[in-house]
Amino acid sequence: LGSRFRLPGERLQLLLRRCREAKACAYCPYSRFPVGAALLTAGGEIFSGCNVENACYSLGVCAERTAIQKAISEGHTRFRAMAIASDMGTEFIVPCGACRQVMREFGKDWDVYLTKPDGTYIVKKLDELLPLSFGPEDLKKA
Ligand code: THU
Repeated sequence: LGSRFRLPGERLQLLLRRCREAKACAYCPYSRFPVGAALLTAGGEIFSGCNVENACYSLGVCAERTAIQKAISEGHTRFRAMAIASDMGTEFIVPCGACRQVMREFGKDWDVYLTKPDGTYIVKKLDELLPLSFGPEDLKKA
């Protein structure tokens, strides 16, 4: 879905803005590492998310999964792109392995925009971020 239609510039700018805005809501008193994500559905809606940490550290949830849970629980299962923002000036923010697997559940042909605070970004296909992945189709092959 992602690769066949290039995201119009205006839509992309909005997605990039929404992930920055979501970062401002991050609840991260332990890591002090705010992250924001914005997920564009096939229907053109945007669901954003931030990381939500917990005093029981291991219960913390990443921004990417927060956005996916929000979209899925509102009835959206087809995604075109996700943009991710953090405060790291030197590196493009990348999703953790757990988030890559959760994203891959909903297809591997969509785009992930990895950003820096200065507004620059690189874009990767989910299939590039998680090659040789295991997904729902594989369960039918055994
Ligand atoms: N985090 C995210 O939300 N997304 C990422 O892509 C990387 C890490 C969060 C998890 C934790 O709350 C904090 O950043 C430090 O790892």
